[in-house]
Amino acid sequence: MTDLFSLFTLRGVTLRNRIGVAPMCQYCAKPDGLPTDWHLAHLVSRAVGGAGVTITEATAVTPEGRISPGDLGIWSDAHVGPHTRLAAAIAAVGSVPGIQIAHAGRKASRLPAWQSGPADPSWTCIAPSAEAFGDFAVPHAMTEAEIGATIEAFAAATRRAVQAGYRFIEIHAAHGYLMHQFLSPLSNRRNDGWGGDFDGRSRIVTETAKAVRAAMPDDLALAIRVSHTDWVEGGWTTEETVELSRRVKALGVDLVDVSSGGLDARQKIPMGPGYQVPGAAAVREGAAVPVAAVGLITEPGHAQEILNEGKADLIFLARALLRDPYWPLHAAATLGRTEALAIPPQYDRAWGTLGKVNMDLDIGQPQPAL
Ligand SMILES: Cc1cc2nc3c(=O)[nH]c(=O)nc-3n(C[C@H](O)[C@H](O)[C@H](O)COP(=O)(O)O)c2cc1C
Repeated sequence: MTDLFSLFTLRGVTLRNRIGVAPMCQYCAKPDGLPTDWHLAHLVSRAVGGAGVTITEATAVTPEGRISPGDLGIWSDAHVGPHTRLAAAIAAVGSVPGIQIAHAGRKASRLPAWQSGPADPSWTCIAPSAEAFGDFAVPHAMTEAEIGATIEAFAAATRRAVQAGYRFIEIHAAHGYLMHQFLSPLSNRRNDGWGGDFDGRSRIVTETAKAVRAAMPDDLALAIRVSHTDWVEGGWTTEETVELSRRVKALGVDLVDVSSGGLDARQKIPMGPGYQVPGAAAVREGAAVPVAAVGLITEPGHAQEILNEGKADLIFLARALLRDPYWPLHAAATLGRTEALAIPPQYDRAWGTLGKVNMDLDIGQPQPAL
């Protein structure tokens, strides 16, 4: 039995519970990838709602690695100051500040999710091979020098993220973005040392994991987000994800965040509550590494059950937390764990009395002053 509200430690980083805010693009950064007050409000709302770790949206390691022109970036020293503000504000309300570092590869240069289509035809996308995703632009096949520079961009982004105060760094290797494009034989058609067999296709990920780990202090936590399967015949498989997880664990990755899909439009996803949990359980068992489960987990009882069954160590939520930033606090109340509520003192009169003092409190009565 692993309590949803128990502490969880990765190296020198302790989460106050097992709930994480999954990365969520907001598509509203300033044109140069700098955060705005929206990002501050969005992330801090969810941190104050009780999450153990709060992870930024996919934050680009190079300008051309952005999914959309509105993505956050961390490709220059000018990004450090504004990110310091985000990380400090998340930490100030008791959540571990996390950042997802990312490169979109051939899925870059798109308009925000609520529009569609290409953002900027003059923006050249890069990928392992010159093969487009669906009707997206045909990318430029990366040279070896460009691969090396991209790995170094992940390392430089990590140094800046550490300087900004993030304590949990997640490499985005899922959802059909650059790292995943190298992993899958459906998008990686190279026949040099960065393609072909499993070793070649996974090389950019292992090299990036090595470079990122070397760029951060030993006591900070490193995670990787993977798509455990492409959900397409002939694509990247769960078995390969397990082997990749073993290898990156040996290189200092502390947690695998297990998602799926996003690489190929032919994917057939068996969508339903917890549909990616079997992938998380396979990685946890096969690679003996801590994992986060994510994807259509919305009920507190379900989250607790996944932990009880030993299928994951953390539960990451995205849309449920957009609907209700206080999901962790509500979950504690639902599961009868009111003693686990981490109520900010400013909100104590709304929450602190629940279960502790008087469940029948008549809110029509004047409340005592703090
Ligand atoms: C608005 C929105 C933006 C997202 N942006 C990202 C992102 O930046 N990086 C990422 O890895 N996943 C992203 N995702 C996927 C989520 O992190 C999560 O894996 C997915 O929504 C499934 O979890 P859920 O069912 O709890 O929403 C996004 C999802 C949403 C809804």
